[in-house]
Amino acid sequence: MNNVFVFDHPLIQHKISLLRDKNTNTKEFRELVSEISMLMGYEVTRNMPLKEVEIETPIGIAKTKVISGKKLGIVPILRAGLGMVDGMIQLLPMAKVGHIGLYRDPETLKPVEYYCKLPVDAAERDIVILDPMLATGGSASAAIQFIKDKGVSSVKLMCLIAAPEGIKRVNESHPDVEIYCACVDEKLNDHCYIVPGLGDAGDRLFGTK
Ligand code: URA
Repeated sequence: MNNVFVFDHPLIQHKISLLRDKNTNTKEFRELVSEISMLMGYEVTRNMPLKEVEIETPIGIAKTKVISGKKLGIVPILRAGLGMVDGMIQLLPMAKVGHIGLYRDPETLKPVEYYCKLPVDAAERDIVILDPMLATGGSASAAIQFIKDKGVSSVKLMCLIAAPEGIKRVNESHPDVEIYCACVDEKLNDHCYIVPGLGDAGDRLFGTK
């Protein structure tokens, strides 16, 4: 596994445990996804470049630092990625938000983009794709490719739980893309759900099951 960063911060791990619990209700699930996304966003932005500036305080001149370099964009994969947006923009209120939606063509089994709206200046931004569950890696790899095809060169993938199969697929198709997650689980089951995972993240977020 290359380019995988697992965030083992105790708060993240504790909240992931609550998220996995089948008795966690929709309201709690939503809040947890948002909180974990914010905590993960804190780690994802750890290496943002800084530049020195001078600020006049009431007492004197401080040589101090502000964020420099590329601006951020976040792109949730519809639908479950939407649950991660709120936490990220609480942390990064200036980040622009794009959206991408994919479905699997029943005949070719290939992912098809049915919706994609990115910030106009996406190509100049560091783009973080959001999807809580990295299962087979099919949608994530396709989303990364569709976004790269629109001229974006700096892409990262942030998920909550990853399966080894998904990591392998993204590593193979996009060796340049860093993957951030809170846990790497055991495997996929016959229905491509992550084991033990947390079930269907979209259904649990939106109360559709
Ligand atoms: N998507 C989900 O929501 N859960 C899984 O376990 C796999 C894909």
